[in-house]
Amino acid sequence: MRALVTGGAGFIGSHIGARLCAAGIDVVAFDDLSTGKRENLAGIDARLVVGDVRDRAALGAAMAGCDLVFHEAAVVSVPKSVEDPQLSHDVNIQGTLNVLLEARARGVKRVVFAGSAAIYGEEPTLPKHEGMLPAPISPYGVEKITGELYLKAWPKLYGVETVTLRYFNVFGPRQDPSSPYSGVISIFVQRALSGAPITVFGDGLQTRDFVFVGDVAEANYLAGTVPGVSGATFNVARGEQTTLVELLAMLGRIVGRDLSPTFAEARGGDIRYSIADVSAARAALGWTAQVGVEDGLRKLVDWFATIQR
Ligand code: NAD
Ligand code: UD1
Repeated sequence: MRALVTGGAGFIGSHIGARLCAAGIDVVAFDDLSTGKRENLAGIDARLVVGDVRDRAALGAAMAGCDLVFHEAAVVSVPKSVEDPQLSHDVNIQGTLNVLLEARARGVKRVVFAGSAAIYGEEPTLPKHEGMLPAPISPYGVEKITGELYLKAWPKLYGVETVTLRYFNVFGPRQDPSSPYSGVISIFVQRALSGAPITVFGDGLQTRDFVFVGDVAEANYLAGTVPGVSGATFNVARGEQTTLVELLAMLGRIVGRDLSPTFAEARGGDIRYSIADVSAARAALGWTAQVGVEDGLRKLVDWFATIQR
């Protein structure tokens, strides 16, 4: 069996590649290296094709002979999509359509899509469950729900199986902390370890449902291989919410010092509370997250220590 992982040199994509290799699947990573890195694939037996999902011909060539596609390539930052919605539209909507068009043309069996909790947006109900109406408040959220809707149409129209995984806030080794657009945990851990100042946007009482990347890779493996789930959408999260203030307290315990942040204005497009109902993935995929937030933070701190040596 062969799989294409778009965004395969990125944070989550490289962990999916590792999980697929461990299952004996041939992996092709397709990535423009805009935020991904070759080093992320070190020790993973994947072939890297450097290319852009907006380039349909290059994408199709990389997909030749693939049974499965895991579509991770995207402009992943909410504030970046607010700043440059044309760019995120082109990559996140046209890029996803290109993946689906090529999957149809190349006879791919199943496409698994990296959806997002950002599609729930301002809908106040907690926990978020898959049956709720989407209410995105950022271009990124609009783009992710558009991708999902395209995926929903594909099985009946063109016979390509599809599954969307709505990731909540993923963290772990290989998440790049180096840009202001990076995931909050990667930024906080790097700053906690280097002694650099930490900024919290807003009052720090916003919540996120943080899930460890190894668990997300397992959810992808199952979404690609479990029969009878085509057309479905699943939340991928722990089903627990943590405020940024609580997160900093946990991290402070791990690094052994008090982490007092500076507070700045809340970011545009930011959602306030986020926690998932995770029962659908448990029932249909037999998946539940295994790594707790504090344990995952400890693993991440250990990993930072190994790369800084
Ligand atoms: P990442 O930035 O590490 O991965 C994205 C990868 O896509 C990178 O390797 C990047 O180089 C590549 N890429 C970007 N634009 C591309 C293009 N035009 N053509 C080809 N490759 C391109 O981020 P990540 O956190 O690993 O995100 C992976 C996926 O998961 C994304 O679709 C993201 O929207 C989604 N997601 C992430 C989270 C999270 O908390 N990290 C949560 C929900 C959804
Ligand atoms: C993240 C993902 C997005 C995903 C969504 C799903 C990244 C970069 N973004 O968006 O792809 O679809 O989860 O829920 O992985 N913050 C600070 N200080 C900082 C950085 C961030 O206070 O230095 C705050 C933000 O304002 C926000 C929270 O931390 O309130 C989380 O931010 P971030 O990690 O960027 O994630 P989301 O915007 O939730």
